[in-house]
Amino acid sequence: MKDEVARLGAEDVRDLMVLEKLCFSYHWTQEQFLLGLERNAYRVLGIRRAGVLVAYLAFSIIKDEMEVLNLAVHPDFRRRGLGEKLLRECFRVCIEENVGKSFLDVKISNEPALGLYRKFGYKQIGIRKKYYPDTREDALLFRYDFV
Ligand SMILES: CC(C)(COP(=O)(O)OP(=O)(O)OC[C@H]1O[C@@H](n2cnc3c(N)ncnc32)[C@H](O)[C@@H]1OP(=O)(O)O)[C@@H](O)C(=O)NCCC(=O)NCCS
Repeated sequence: MKDEVARLGAEDVRDLMVLEKLCFSYHWTQEQFLLGLERNAYRVLGIRRAGVLVAYLAFSIIKDEMEVLNLAVHPDFRRRGLGEKLLRECFRVCIEENVGKSFLDVKISNEPALGLYRKFGYKQIGIRKKYYPDTREDALLFRYDFV
């Protein structure tokens, strides 16, 4: 099946909340999503299967920097290339918009996400001790240079 990556809008907020709650115990609120979807503080890409939202990626572009804000794939649809597909589309947008670099942070124990970001060429540039309020885990800071 061919998965289409689409830009999401305010009409998708309910589906985003369902997916978000499935994927994270400490999750984004509806208000946080609306900041991006209605007020364009960041952008959200999504993939649907049979109408059901199964993956999304939120990212911001400010000047020539892109930050990955959140990425989630439905637990039943992982390891099928959907996360990679979303990040690839985000990279395509960055190249089109002459973005020079990208940053993100990820929990030190999150092997799937670490694997994905390393596969795309992100390099670790730092660590923030006990950064996350939910688990008090360390954050690894990653950077990717487009040029
Ligand atoms: C991280 C996440 C988005 C990956 O999505 P996915 O669609 O399952 O990933 P993909 O199938 O596109 O995999 C792409 C690459 O990521 C890495 N990867 C994905 N799952 C992995 C796992 N369980 N263990 C190790 N590496 C993994 C691999 O490098 C993989 O490439 P490969 O298939 O050639 O080995 C998904 O596991 C998820 O939603 N996790 C919960 C939410 C989360 O932690 N989000 C990240 C916040 S920073």
